[in-house]
Amino acid sequence: MTGRERVLAVLGGQHADRLSCMPITMMFAADVLGVGYGQYARDYRVMADAQLKTAEMFGLDYVSTISDPAREASDLGGKIQWYDDQPPAIVENEALFTDKRVFAGFKVPDRVAGGRMEDRIRGVELLRSRVGQDLLVEGWVEGPCAESADLRGINHMMTDFSDDPAFIQDLFEFTVEVATRFAAAATLGIPQLHDGARIVTVSQDPRQALCYQCHAPREPETGSIAATNAWGPQVGSGDDRTPMGVHEGISCVSCHDGHNENTRASCKTCHPQMSNYGIDMEKMDTTYSSATSAHNIHWVKCTDCHQHGIPKAETPAPHNAKSLATLERNG
Ligand code: HEC
Ligand code: HEC
Ligand code: HEC
Ligand code: HEC
Repeated sequence: MTGRERVLAVLGGQHADRLSCMPITMMFAADVLGVGYGQYARDYRVMADAQLKTAEMFGLDYVSTISDPAREASDLGGKIQWYDDQPPAIVENEALFTDKRVFAGFKVPDRVAGGRMEDRIRGVELLRSRVGQDLLVEGWVEGPCAESADLRGINHMMTDFSDDPAFIQDLFEFTVEVATRFAAAATLGIPQLHDGARIVTVSQDPRQALCYQCHAPREPETGSIAATNAWGPQVGSGDDRTPMGVHEGISCVSCHDGHNENTRASCKTCHPQMSNYGIDMEKMDTTYSSATSAHNIHWVKCTDCHQHGIPKAETPAPHNAKSLATLERNG
């Protein structure tokens, strides 16, 4: 059983070979890596290294992105105090909503980008690509009471419970909405992938983000060309199936109807009208036509089949029966 399977089994009330081991290791993990906690909380790459090293050293079942309570508050504009070797903290007497009128004019931001919340999401993505299916990756968002205390100041919030319950209601709705958007972005990221050094165009279809939770790429192996050149996760690594080549940029869901190999109907939605010539795509030599084909439907490029140069579409097809026979299914 992998750590990830173990945690999911325990959470699902199923049998596991032993209880899962998920200690919160924040400052301990920074110590294990030998970095200041300030660096750990500021840079997801440092956090990922520390989490991985700690999980490996102690055989933990998960890695986590919990760091401090000030990520949301910091991105919303709250004042936080940084320290070299302890978690950043909210400056309580300068809390963002000390004056309730500031809250009245405040909107939930529609994007979780460009700040400390995005840094945590990047951490989730990086950890997922590095642990694959071996360990569980834990995200982290603040709950309504904790986050409201960070934004309003804990002392004000306590008295608001009796003095102004309607305000507390609004404040909690606001903080839950912030947390929901943050969590949704963190759990369902779409990775940035590479083909060698080239950045691959990946469909941003949010439904496809689900597929990446399991059909995920891995960080390049230490010592590989991709790792040496710091190119980043490669298409087709791990369990990744991101389309590249002729189908680059197309979402999994354009071809896969649900969680199965039911792709039969999809080809007709784009072919033959999007093809370079009139022959039947479904009969061409790809893994659609035959599971043993050398041309994986997810990655096949023009040059894989046209090894001596890609013909121009205007030239009338020679209808070379022999080459078609070798490429088509069952001759
Ligand atoms: C919760 C994890 C998970 C998610 C999410 C997931 N898959 Fe899978 N998928 C698997 C596993 C596990 C297998 C089986 C792999 C094996 O047996 O080698 C699989 C197999 C498949 C297969 C092979 C067909 C079959 O029935 O075995 C296809 C096609 C597939 N997945 C497509 C997708 C697509 C498309 C998405 C997104 C819509 C997706 N998967 C999301 C875990 C997942
Ligand atoms: C251009 C259409 C297309 C796209 C886009 C596509 N697939 Fe597939 N996929 C196929 C076809 C065709 C097969 C072979 C099954 C069949 O014959 O129906 C397949 C097979 C698979 C299999 C099982 C066989 C194998 O390769 O191990 C998995 C898993 C899979 N796809 C996952 C995905 C995921 C995940 C995505 C998105 C990242 C994706 N596919 C995008 C067409 C597509
Ligand atoms: C969402 C649209 C879309 C779907 C669905 C789709 N394709 Fe394609 N496919 C394309 C496009 C666009 C190209 C041409 C790319 C180019 O010209 O660079 C292409 C190219 C191809 C090629 C290379 C030959 C050529 O004419 O360029 C093959 C083979 C192919 N598709 C097979 C399939 C099969 C088999 C399926 C069904 C499993 C499928 N495609 C589903 C959009 C799609
Ligand atoms: C799965 C293999 C495969 C892939 C991938 C593929 N082709 Fe083809 N292509 C063929 C076959 C087979 C023929 C028919 C050759 C024949 O009749 O001799 C063909 C024919 C053609 C023709 C017609 C030739 C002519 O003289 O009229 C053009 C144009 C062409 N391909 C362009 C492309 C382009 C552009 C791509 C990438 C977007 C591509 N092909 C991808 C297999 C492929």
